[in-house]
This record gives sequence, structure tokens and C-alpha cells, in this order.
Amino acid sequence: MSLAVSGLVAGYGATTVLRGVDLVVPAGHVVALLGPNGSGKTTLLRACSGLLQPSAGTVTVDGADRTGLAPHDLVTAGVCHVPEGRAVFPGMTVAENLRLLAPPGVPDHVERAADAFPVLGRKLDQVAGTLSGGEQQMLALSRAFLQAPRYILLDEVSMGLAPRVVEEIFAALRRLAERGSALLLVEQFVHLALALADLVYVMDRGRIAFQGEPVELDASALAAAYLAAGTRA
Ligand SMILES: Nc1ncnc2c1ncn2[C@@H]1O[C@H](COP(=O)(O)OP(=O)(O)OP(=O)(O)O)[C@@H](O)[C@H]1O
Ligand SMILES: [Mg+2]
Repeated sequence: MSLAVSGLVAGYGATTVLRGVDLVVPAGHVVALLGPNGSGKTTLLRACSGLLQPSAGTVTVDGADRTGLAPHDLVTAGVCHVPEGRAVFPGMTVAENLRLLAPPGVPDHVERAADAFPVLGRKLDQVAGTLSGGEQQMLALSRAFLQAPRYILLDEVSMGLAPRVVEEIFAALRRLAERGSALLLVEQFVHLALALADLVYVMDRGRIAFQGEPVELDASALAAAYLAAGTRA
């Protein structure tokens, strides 16, 4: 059982970004996806969740070919994408956001979200755009707690948050993993991501440059991957 992409090619208009990506997220495992800015991490997550149609290759979920499905069909197939940025409806209240995030048939969505993030339970009537950055990210993350998906794609969910809030977000990620969801984790806090991860992939210019266990990824190899990108710019 896994979320797997094979030979994936995708991009924007005439620009090819992913140039034949093979990656496997085994069920119940945490996979860190690292790589320099612009290497294609966000593009890969978008292709996995149906937000971007690949021009070649396949996306397979638990053995079934799901290539080219629309985002809501991939949600049904068990894939939840927490996109980059604060993915909330800023003009709606916390309660209204939760109602929109909850899949049909989850009547206790408010309780589940408040259980995951007690602060949300205390601010149900607050307009989401007035929450702190960390609270907004918790609200965005609560979709993963409501959907209980088999695979969760997380794009820089700790971006721009204070260290204490980053710790809280990572504690939530650990709880999601403990509940049995597999995580594909794109993170700028590389050491936190590697501490949680069973496997790590490094992307470079739309290709996988390294795959292995975190212990196999030594610090100098990682630094080299990032520095190489910096000097190319
Ligand atoms: N909507 C778009 N239209 C055109 N090009 C895009 C679009 N989104 C991304 N790109 C380009 O695709 C390439 C890969 O971008 P992507 O966002 O996947 O990188 P990333 O690895 O997530 O980078 P970062 O670490 O900065 O988030 C970049 O060259 C970027 O400029
Ligand atoms: Mg990105």
C-alpha cells in the first residue's frame, strides 16, 4: 500500500518542471521531500493531489491508477493536500471554515478539530483572517484531522511561524502519523522533518537527486544540494 508516482512529467504551459519523478510514500510512513527553491516540490504535491495534470507518468494510490483525477476524487481516494500559505477562508469564521473542510458524514467536525487544536474550539466565532498565523495554520491543518486520510501532503506548514508554534505544528504532525496517516512532508525546518521521517527524497531541478533513510543523508550532501542551487541562480 502506497502513494506512488512514476515517471511523472508536469509543468506550467510550455515550462516543464517535473522531469520524470519516481517517488513512493509507503502507507503509514513519513517521507520528507527536500530540495532548493524552485526545484519542484510544490509542483510535485500539486500533481499528486490532482491540482495539476501531469503530461506523462502515473499517480497510483494503493495500487489503483489515479492519474488525472480531479482534486475531490483524490480526496475520496485518501489523499489530503495541505497547500502552502494559510489555506483558510479569511472572511469566514472558524466554525464556517471547519464546516467547509469537513467531508460529508462527519457531524462532529467541530469537536474533532477542537480536540486536535483546543485553541480553535475557543475561537469558533472568530473570523479566520483575524487569527494569528499559527492559529490559521492549525485551522488549515485541521482538514487532515477531519478527513483522517491515508496520505497527507504538507507544503511548508510551519513557514513563517514562531519557534514555539512550529513545535506545536510538528507535535500535530506527529499525532497524525501516530494515527496511521502517511505524510509527505515539504519543510524548511530540515532537521525537524528528518527527525520525524522514515525516508527522505531530495529534489533538484525537477528530478530526484537522492532517496534513502535520513541517516544516509549526511549534512555535507544536504548542504551541497542547497548550495549548488544557490550558485546556479
Ligand atoms: N503557476 C506557475 N506558473 C509558471 N511557473 C511556475 C508556476 N508555479 C511554479 N512555477 C515554476 O516551477 C518551478 C518549480 O516551482 P515549485 O513551486 O514547484 O518549487 P518548490 O521546490 O516548491 O520551491 P520553494 O522551495 O521555493 O517552495 C519554478 O521554476 C517556478 O518558477
Ligand atoms: Mg514550494
